[in-house]
Amino acid sequence: MRAVVVYESMYGNTHQVAGAIGTALETAYEVSVVPVSRADPALLDAADLVVVGGPTHVHGMSRPGTRKGAVEAAGKPDSPLKAEPDALGPGLREWFGTLGRYPAKAAAFDTRLHGPARMTGRASKKVAHLLRAHGFELIAPPESFLVTKQNELEPHETTRAREWGATLVASSTPSHSRQ
Ligand SMILES: Cc1cc2nc3c(=O)[nH]c(=O)nc-3n(C[C@H](O)[C@H](O)[C@H](O)COP(=O)(O)O)c2cc1C
Repeated sequence: MRAVVVYESMYGNTHQVAGAIGTALETAYEVSVVPVSRADPALLDAADLVVVGGPTHVHGMSRPGTRKGAVEAAGKPDSPLKAEPDALGPGLREWFGTLGRYPAKAAAFDTRLHGPARMTGRASKKVAHLLRAHGFELIAPPESFLVTKQNELEPHETTRAREWGATLVASSTPSHSRQ
């Protein structure tokens, strides 16, 4: 069985979470973890499980303008942030526009600031909505992983991402859920 984890990431946090989820999925799947810039829609044709995540920007999914702002912030001389190589490429919002319909199982995640979701917003809610609109069967509620105000993943979030990945294995593979 195949699983694909597609991520969008400006500063590497969502990338890191995607990697941890991918590691957990390897107990049951042949796994590809790919940035959205390399997520050819054909990759999804052979996937039994598709997990999609991105950063929360302005309470939702990123837009070209917010990604440009994120890269510019990292380019400032005193900035500790480092932009991912494909940060200025297409985001998940544009990628969904290229997709057809898929019968696979799926789940959505995001990264966002620590705080009540009604204050911070969360990109995963819209990602889940778009997955459903493209025919995917959602097997888990959207999940958020938290970053600090300094844009670093909070301690234990990669562990939590691995644990969340394990719950996706349990709910997508009947043999694993019986163990
Ligand atoms: C332009 C911009 C807008 C943001 N807006 C929000 C927001 O509305 N809510 C929030 O929780 N975090 C917001 N953030 C913080 C991001 O969620 C955080 O940078 C991201 O999760 C880090 O993931 P990444 O390293 O994969 O880019 C924003 C960040 C940027 C750069």
